[in-house]
Amino acid sequence: MDIVNIITKKKDNKELSYDEIKYAVEGYVNGDIKDYQMSSLLMAIVINGMTDEEIFNLTEIMLNSGDKLDLSSISGIKVDKHSTGGIGDKTTLVVAPLVSACGVPVAKMSGRGLGFTGGTIDKLESISGFNTSLDMNDFIKQVNDIKIAIATQTGNLVPADKKIYALRDVTGTTESIPLIASSIMSKKLASGADKIVLDVKVGKGAFMKNIDAAKKLSEIMIKIGKRFKKEVVALITNMDYPLGRAIGNGIEVKDAIDTLIGNGEERFTKLCLVIASYMVSLGKKINVSDALDLVKEKLDNKEAYNKFLELVKYQGGDINNIDICKNKYDIISDKEGYITDIDTLKLAEFANNLGAGRKTKEDNINYGVGILLNKKVNDKVSKNEVIGYVVSDENVDTTSLISYFTIKKENINEIDIIYDVIK
Ligand code: URA
Repeated sequence: MDIVNIITKKKDNKELSYDEIKYAVEGYVNGDIKDYQMSSLLMAIVINGMTDEEIFNLTEIMLNSGDKLDLSSISGIKVDKHSTGGIGDKTTLVVAPLVSACGVPVAKMSGRGLGFTGGTIDKLESISGFNTSLDMNDFIKQVNDIKIAIATQTGNLVPADKKIYALRDVTGTTESIPLIASSIMSKKLASGADKIVLDVKVGKGAFMKNIDAAKKLSEIMIKIGKRFKKEVVALITNMDYPLGRAIGNGIEVKDAIDTLIGNGEERFTKLCLVIASYMVSLGKKINVSDALDLVKEKLDNKEAYNKFLELVKYQGGDINNIDICKNKYDIISDKEGYITDIDTLKLAEFANNLGAGRKTKEDNINYGVGILLNKKVNDKVSKNEVIGYVVSDENVDTTSLISYFTIKKENINEIDIIYDVIK
């Protein structure tokens, strides 16, 4: 077999066989196939797509590239969640303790940043001392002890995705339904959960720019789940505006804590409650509305917040020492009116340029930098009002930032954060 022929076949929009996909993926993992060859194949997939059969095969090959977690020694139904990635997406930091506080075990393997800011693991690492690299036995013991653990993918869990994901990040090949579906589902299947809730984001700040694409992605992931006998529920959610108030890493952890103590931004709080309720519904086999009541109770009585504190402590973190830069640089409104739009991607790019995310797979993250918004879409602002700020240790010129906010005389119709649920 020859990688150039495989690339050419995909470039010509022909279906790759199981063996051809296996040859490309395994060759890339063991180093026989080079970055430039894999990038070329990935780009051909982005442009020409894949058939369902190719997607199932790619998922299976990636899944078989490493270890599979066996969570059977954890009692109860294990429900995992995954987000396709959004700006300011700290949902796991809120949802995991909410679900765990309801008695559903959360054994969560999370990732590092792909795109503008860090991933859940990067965010947690902004808490001083927080150990995200748990060994498998410790991970399972922790879930049995306190019903929650969040760790980075262990060394050998879906190594193919780890390597391909990092390459996609820096070669403009992230936005592809077959690649996203197989990347997510191989990890979810390898992570050993019994059931899976997917948060498929759609909008200006997401990979999926329209609801149709998000539905297609959801449907193929549900089909992959069926192929591997796992129940999958997909929520299609709006990602036009930053999630919550913060974009960054440490600053997002603080935003998550605010949400857990009941002071979260409303749309983000709703998103977390709904995702958690589907997870609890699957984990406890109760209907979604009863699950929602239970989740709300755990938010209101602070049991979920206490669960987060327990998690941080167990994994060695110091909750009083979160890396957030001290210097604040204001974003000041240049007119009076209502915020009718926010250029979320531009804001995220700004945060990325400060160092909140990675530009290449080797980059280090600056956990302390970020952006906080005091105002959201439809909020009224007056001229010269501070609508948010940037945190950084270095001098930051924030004058351009106000151009990312559209301010008009009239407000707009609210878009619900949850568009659809697909089963
Ligand atoms: N999240 C993933 O895990 N993989 C992707 O490809 C995109 C988002």
